[in-house]
Amino acid sequence: MKPILYLVRDLPGQDLGPLRAAFDVRGGGPAALPRERLVEAARGAAVLVPTYIDRVDGALLDLLPTVRHVASYGVGVNHLDLDACRARRVLVTNTPGVLTDATADHAMALLLAAARRVAEGDRVVRAGGWRAVEPAFMLGTEVTGKTLGLVGFGRIGQAVARRARGFGLSVLYASPRPSDFPDARHVPLDVLLAASDFVSLHTPLTKETEGLLSRERIARMKPGAIVVNTARGAVVDDDALAEALASGKLAAAGLDVFRDEPRVPEAYLRLANVVLTPHLGSGTRETRAAMARMVLDEALRVARGEPPRNAVP
Ligand code: DGY
Repeated sequence: MKPILYLVRDLPGQDLGPLRAAFDVRGGGPAALPRERLVEAARGAAVLVPTYIDRVDGALLDLLPTVRHVASYGVGVNHLDLDACRARRVLVTNTPGVLTDATADHAMALLLAAARRVAEGDRVVRAGGWRAVEPAFMLGTEVTGKTLGLVGFGRIGQAVARRARGFGLSVLYASPRPSDFPDARHVPLDVLLAASDFVSLHTPLTKETEGLLSRERIARMKPGAIVVNTARGAVVDDDALAEALASGKLAAAGLDVFRDEPRVPEAYLRLANVVLTPHLGSGTRETRAAMARMVLDEALRVARGEPPRNAVP
């Protein structure tokens, strides 16, 4: 009998053939089942494949005691209770690296869209609001020559820094350790917030980073600055950010991630100076397929008794 591998959702762009040779593959579908039905459907599974949004905690693992490997689709692991996995000796793997460029591209897309009012301009044109040619119409924020502050300077933060050079931005970064990345200055977070015209978030969501962009820190930001978030929604105090955007303290924001996805706080929906995307950071056909490939490769490696490539400690 083959071991059961349970997909919490469909993974895009994958031929499951090789996987089916080694596993009894179950689950999939566009949405995760509610927990009770998921437990029923995944009963007996040795491998559980959640995506970056599907919570796996001790209570779920206790209901699925046969699970030995959680092969998570995505790099972020904030949806997984790692202590609970460790305590039950459940191996956790993720998919780092393959989504770095796609996510960095999306951060730049949001930065440019927010600075140059791309989404807002599109809405104005479609609504027939462009009636005369006026030099002062819908002016945005210049990008070249400004300062970009990167909060978190891992793979994705550094990939954004590389792109930022091409746009003539000076780069500051705040991270626990300095890096030898050329032409970017390591500074304390508060210095970065006070000096940056653009602040882009690239930290994982942990106990330490939850609410990091707090009301107090937003108050210390440069007036007219722009916030970009492709990391995790809960890194930001949404009420404080929405208030700063409504009051004009901040010029705009580009937000791809939210605390309780797919729910987006009402306050953002009402603001014209916020560009919103539905967690598309890694959302290219190529990247999402590469993430899926990594998940499947990892499941097959572990099933063959080989060491995983991306075990999460
Ligand atoms: C991840 O992998 O954690 C990303 O957020 C998916 O886009």
